[in-house]
Amino acid sequence: MKQNAYLKCIDPSCGLEYKIESTRIECEKEHLLDVKYKIDPSPSLKELFYQRRNPEGSIFNESGVWRFRELINFCQIDSDSLEDCATHLVSLDGAEGRQSKPYHMSKVADFVGLSQENLWLQPEGYNPSGSFKDNGMAAAVTHAKLANIKKIICASTGNTSASAAMYAANENIECDVYIPAGQIAPGKLSQAYQFGAQIIEIKGNFDDALSASLEKAKEIGGYTVNSVNPFRIEGQKTIVYRALEYLKWNAPDWIVYPGGALGNTSSCGKSLMELYQWGWIKKIPRIAVINSDGANTLDTLYNGKFNETKLRWNKGKPDTELIKNYYSYLDEKNIRPKTKATAIQIARPSNILKALRALEFTNGVVDEVSDQEMLDGMSIVGLNGFDCEMASGSVPTGIKKLISKEIIKNDDIVVGILTGRQKDSSLAVEYHNNPENQFAIPPMI
Ligand code: F0G
Repeated sequence: MKQNAYLKCIDPSCGLEYKIESTRIECEKEHLLDVKYKIDPSPSLKELFYQRRNPEGSIFNESGVWRFRELINFCQIDSDSLEDCATHLVSLDGAEGRQSKPYHMSKVADFVGLSQENLWLQPEGYNPSGSFKDNGMAAAVTHAKLANIKKIICASTGNTSASAAMYAANENIECDVYIPAGQIAPGKLSQAYQFGAQIIEIKGNFDDALSASLEKAKEIGGYTVNSVNPFRIEGQKTIVYRALEYLKWNAPDWIVYPGGALGNTSSCGKSLMELYQWGWIKKIPRIAVINSDGANTLDTLYNGKFNETKLRWNKGKPDTELIKNYYSYLDEKNIRPKTKATAIQIARPSNILKALRALEFTNGVVDEVSDQEMLDGMSIVGLNGFDCEMASGSVPTGIKKLISKEIIKNDDIVVGILTGRQKDSSLAVEYHNNPENQFAIPPMI
């Protein structure tokens, strides 16, 4: 098992490689990195993963991330003893991914126009810090531990910082979080304080906070746990594993995510590329990414709305000049991302290239929805007794939109990922107090 895992630049013409202990997030030429494995895991592991759902006293079997440890074995653990797992793997008592699996939701199915059986929604808000981030953070902090790191750093629209701070507190390491002042939901900000992180408020938006945090990390040799960290992507692959396992490893037609920094799109793509290559799945689901129309860089560039050129991975030769030109245009016109769904209020998605690769591999699509549509999406999920935040509300609404465009067919099997739970309670209260809203149940006076 030794020396199975390593890091490799995503640019096929560069391909620089690094040892797995490296704390780089980019190669020397500033391209993102992938975690790579030399040995293909055998599909016979499916049975073992299923058996671990009866955890037999191991928190690493309870964990919906580490239950799949052989598929993200960058620590190169070569025994399955509880002691070895406990020495290497970081887990919040097995809670990450433990509660998340796909559900049918009848009212959402009616809303989007699919039969109940064909629509699955996976609430990642039931993770210990309340969002999908815990999947990736458990893995990133595991790598930080491998590299003997004592302080982690991130920028955040709120959920990343909540998750990072929670794991840091649990591992007794420090955590600095850079946040766009006044632009994150109160429930998320209070988590970072509560878990003892050092908050650094940045005047500006998430993109500004991310560049400030990356600069600081470079300066002090800090360890970044944003989704540019390739180990975050490894952990987030397990979101797809859980969905597929529930579907008995029969791939659905679609997997749908909100699009922010595009870590999820990247991790979904990487998991599908690997599973297909390893012979674990026979069919490749298509990824659909849903942007907010107020923070729609991917939709704009992918669908040729900037200068008619459709930005593509192009087998590893994407038109990066087009991306740069678009960012210069945003700066010149002073266009800032703007949406009430602050989780995805991002104009410069740091994983855009990995996301393009994922979209190419899966023949994916990108669309955008309005704030009102996200609020309706969030609310119809609520009426099924499930909690989700506004950014996650883009998923039901995005599915509905793609069905109305006949891109998703009404007999397709669709899995939507509800990325986080409600941490801005004022949004739901405002929504229901306005009788004009489609699903409002106003209070009686
Ligand atoms: N949904 C929620 C609830 C999020 O918090 C985020 C991102 C996304 C979707 C977008 O996911 O970046 O993988 O495309 N939140 C980050 C944060 C940026 O700092 O918490 P993505």
